[in-house]
Amino acid sequence: MLKKSYPYYLANHAVAANKDLEVLDKYSGKRATRVAFADATAVRKAIVAAHRARPAMAAFPPDKRRDVLEHCVKRFAERQEELALALCIEAGKPIKDSRGEVTRLIDTFRIAAGEATRIGGEVLDLEIGPRTRGYRGMVKRVPVGVCAFITPFNFPLNLVAHKVAPAIVAGCPFVLKPAIKTPIGALIIGEVLEETDLPKGAFSILPCSNEDAGLLVEDERIALLSFTGGLVGWELKTRAGRKKVTLELGGNAACIVDDDPGMDLDKVVERLVFGAYYQSGQSCISVQRIYAHAAVYDRLKKKLTVAAGKLKMGDPRDEKVFVGPMVDEDAAKRVEKWIAAAVKGGAIRLAGGKRAGNMLPAALLENVPHGSDLYRKEAFGPVACIEAFGHFDDALKRVNDSDFGLQAGVFTGRLAHAMRAWDALEVGGVIVGDVPSFRVDNMPYGGVKQSGLGREGVRYAIEDMTELRLLIIKQ
Ligand code: SIN
Repeated sequence: MLKKSYPYYLANHAVAANKDLEVLDKYSGKRATRVAFADATAVRKAIVAAHRARPAMAAFPPDKRRDVLEHCVKRFAERQEELALALCIEAGKPIKDSRGEVTRLIDTFRIAAGEATRIGGEVLDLEIGPRTRGYRGMVKRVPVGVCAFITPFNFPLNLVAHKVAPAIVAGCPFVLKPAIKTPIGALIIGEVLEETDLPKGAFSILPCSNEDAGLLVEDERIALLSFTGGLVGWELKTRAGRKKVTLELGGNAACIVDDDPGMDLDKVVERLVFGAYYQSGQSCISVQRIYAHAAVYDRLKKKLTVAAGKLKMGDPRDEKVFVGPMVDEDAAKRVEKWIAAAVKGGAIRLAGGKRAGNMLPAALLENVPHGSDLYRKEAFGPVACIEAFGHFDDALKRVNDSDFGLQAGVFTGRLAHAMRAWDALEVGGVIVGDVPSFRVDNMPYGGVKQSGLGREGVRYAIEDMTELRLLIIKQ
């Protein structure tokens, strides 16, 4: 069960603010709990505290950083079902997906605990000629300083973990603004971090308005801004001044199903259904565009239509429910509108797409106009577009005909096609044999084009959160 209310965390301590924010149960629409709502003063105090904590965090030894992360792993494992239920309520995420996210939260912290004692460095042989005889170089990584994190509603635990856990490894104090529609996951992480002996001021977790979070973007004491969310991230970058900025801004992920006689189409359908509709498509790597070879197109379309139509929709607490609510009615209305506009433009609706409140059944559309919002923008809803291709290179071109480039999936048994896809696709990751929605938390994750800048995936985030510092020794 959720508590009646949750404090925010300012400089490592729980604070019950004067102002509260209601968090809704996304299925019932009723108030689920309240959280303390921070204001600009709290954000400013958090930045000051984090800035002061820099030397202590930098000096906090690697084994202690590891101990903090291991403590988190242990506590999250003990509180697994409570965490899953919190996600299920605050995000409307089906309970099975919620449990899956808690497992990944634990994975992310465990991976980080492993990294904590092996950041290491490099020894350089500088004797490249007579001028540098006797010189040696050594490079180590030092924390960049204060990090500001802004996280989205769709993975309230694990996308927070992907910023918080690497920051602890890197020795960076941080201030986090979680999504205000789903702040509970981050606040429970705060509750667990409060139990540790992280240096004073090392962390603040502040649900607050976008206006009050402006300081996190603009304050010069912050060295790095890491944002996951919508395209507004590019605007934040222009306001961020000299900070390092990393952005994970989503996409309209594509998946190719090649002409491959050995392919088990039922398995492909199972994965496509998962990729397109898990957590109501509210994932940056949800399958939005499917390109199927003409040789398999009709069979695949039929199977997918049947499978999408069979998905159980309803209360995310129900173990059998696959499609829960979208985050709010506006989001569902937007996707419904895009579907209707695509149909008006000539697309054929094969399944779903008719909304009731914030519930939108899994939708599948054929031959969606390439100029439509549904095809070009990030749907972030339970909808996929399917069309046929004749030549593999043409499918690659269609995948690349997008402003986004996060991940792409390719079902093919042909090695040459797999390699060509890896070479040609303009994305951060190519997943051969599965959907673009596949992610393991130690892999580099991030996009090109409008999808973002930089990579997460613990080790890669640690690289961003540290600078190289060189030592030269002349003997
Ligand atoms: C995202 O929506 O970017 C996160 C996807 C994931 O971690 O699986």
